[in-house]
Amino acid sequence: MRNPVIIALDFPGKKEVEAFIDPFVKQKVDPFVKQKVDPEEQQQIWVKVGMELYYQEGPQLISFLKEKGFRIFLDLKLHDIPTTVQKAMNRIAVLGVDMVNVHAAGGTEMMKRAIEGLNSGSPGARRPLCIAVTQLTSTSQEMLQSELLIKESMESTVSHYANLAKESGLDGVVCSPLEVPHMKAVCGEDFLAVTPGIRLSGDNKNDQIRTADPAGAKKLGSDFIVVGRSITGSVDPLETYMTIQKEWGIFHETTNC
Ligand code: C5P
Repeated sequence: MRNPVIIALDFPGKKEVEAFIDPFVKQKVDPFVKQKVDPEEQQQIWVKVGMELYYQEGPQLISFLKEKGFRIFLDLKLHDIPTTVQKAMNRIAVLGVDMVNVHAAGGTEMMKRAIEGLNSGSPGARRPLCIAVTQLTSTSQEMLQSELLIKESMESTVSHYANLAKESGLDGVVCSPLEVPHMKAVCGEDFLAVTPGIRLSGDNKNDQIRTADPAGAKKLGSDFIVVGRSITGSVDPLETYMTIQKEWGIFHETTNC
């Protein structure tokens, strides 16, 4: 199956989202895949809705994007006691999104209960993919040690958290492309690596520390790349999206999505 570039819709509200998605919706089909995938796949551009947008617009925004034909990663990074996360995931599953996440730092019981909540909220339907944030791509090795008091290397820490997520029944993790080879060696090739921190050469890194370009992420084994400001801040977002698709490689294989 085609493996997506996920566009992070980091906008303050629906008005800005509408303006942004307009050319993508008008395009109707992704010109790069027009000839090669079945019609159902043609409209399936992935977008990520994060905290800023969701807290402003709520569930109606999800319905709106689904109606427009987008696949949705709802990036709310749940991190709370197991019961609260389970109940929240039950509500999230009802929205019919395609991917959700938690912080692995919440522990295995919390992650298992997240899956239970998703299952109970998606009866008869496939539950959304659930992935765990290992370490934010804005965290440096130095910060890991001096602020979080984690003495292990970033790679080992990410792989350890990923292993806990796998044991808890999750589908994959969020990490930087730089940690993907180590993570896959520990958790197996099929465990998904969803990687933000993507920048085109020459782009401003902003607050991201552990970054790679799309081709680099592909080489390192990422399954999905998440791209925000490189697309949303460009002069021609649709053109930039297509450039990134090309660099990423539209038929990069994935296993379970
Ligand atoms: O603009 P940029 O490409 O840096 O956006 C990255 C997106 O991915 C943001 O929406 C951010 O919240 C999200 N993200 C991240 N690092 C993680 C998890 C999510 O950057 N570990």
